[in-house]
Amino acid sequence: MVKAVVLGAAGGIGQPLSLLLKTNPLVTELALYDIVNTPGVAADLSHIATPAKVEGFLPPDDGLKKALKGADVVVIPAGVPRKPGMTRDDLFKINAGIVRDLATGIATTAPKAFVLVISNPVNSTVPIVAEVFKKHGVFDPKRIFGVTTLDVVRSSTFVSEILGDLSLAPSVTVPVVGGHSGVTIIPLLSQSSHPLPSNLSQDKFEALVKRIQFGGDEVVKAKDGAGSATLSMAYAGAEFTAKILRAVKGEKGIVAPTFVNLSADKTSGDALKKEIGKDLEYFSAPVELGPEGVVTIRPLGKLSDYEKKLVEAAIPELETNIEKGVSFIGSSK
Ligand code: NAI
Repeated sequence: MVKAVVLGAAGGIGQPLSLLLKTNPLVTELALYDIVNTPGVAADLSHIATPAKVEGFLPPDDGLKKALKGADVVVIPAGVPRKPGMTRDDLFKINAGIVRDLATGIATTAPKAFVLVISNPVNSTVPIVAEVFKKHGVFDPKRIFGVTTLDVVRSSTFVSEILGDLSLAPSVTVPVVGGHSGVTIIPLLSQSSHPLPSNLSQDKFEALVKRIQFGGDEVVKAKDGAGSATLSMAYAGAEFTAKILRAVKGEKGIVAPTFVNLSADKTSGDALKKEIGKDLEYFSAPVELGPEGVVTIRPLGKLSDYEKKLVEAAIPELETNIEKGVSFIGSSK
């Protein structure tokens, strides 16, 4: 029996993500929480002929607590998305408080649940969730994840486009490490399962890296004020959730890049800090998942000189983003 909960379930990401979770046969109960519209979304999804029992909750009458009771996995796409010209960091003012309040609900109601954070800026919202859990004495770094899967999904797609064969996309894997915003998104293209064409010019290579780092901007621009990636994000969020659920069920060897606290596994976390040459508290790296969450954090491996520079360039921004999330909880009541 697996209970999955979506917080922000009526939103642009929340609705298609809830749809995809409803179609996951591993989910037996699906609770949808939002400040609006969840009864309607739940009624609609509940007619789909799959095992999950769906229920919608709103804030009155302790709706958040009721939604979270007995949760195994909680996915958080609640908050405002970007508009043209905004960075993910611009969302901090509004989303930090939303994520803090939802994390408080999880810490007090379902402290053992796996928490998958989609709300941006992920580099700061994951530390916010962790700090709230610390305050409540229930922090387990193995169970809190920043969802960076969309960067991985985009890499697979864009690389297969360069290879001239989109049918390769599902099998192309590129580790994407660092964080989830602009220059902190580091695709390790030298480790792509499908090598890039050897005659690819440096200009085209750099344009590909930029496109992976700033792919979200393409969607924000095309939506022209109506938000950011929702459907591709829902797909990515459902993929990552499915991996967590398979690992919980005991499947071995499941690896996914995700933004985690490096104390989740001390030995491999310390080794990663050495590899990047900085004592960062959080970093996105390929993580092996198991029934208790993080099993081990995989090393970045051999990097090209270009990739080493990308890591160096990402560190100052990561440091600032992480500190912003940590101090928000330190300073908030
Ligand atoms: P949206 O505005 O369509 O939906 C957000 C939902 O959150 C709304 O239904 C809203 O009512 C709900 N909400 C607001 N405050 C809430 C609260 N206190 N409790 C529960 N629900 C609440 O936004 P969209 O497009 O779904 O994006 C959601 C978040 O996901 C944004 O922060 C966006 O930046 C982020 N995002 C993350 C990505 C990633 O790769 N991690 C990719 C794309 C977006």
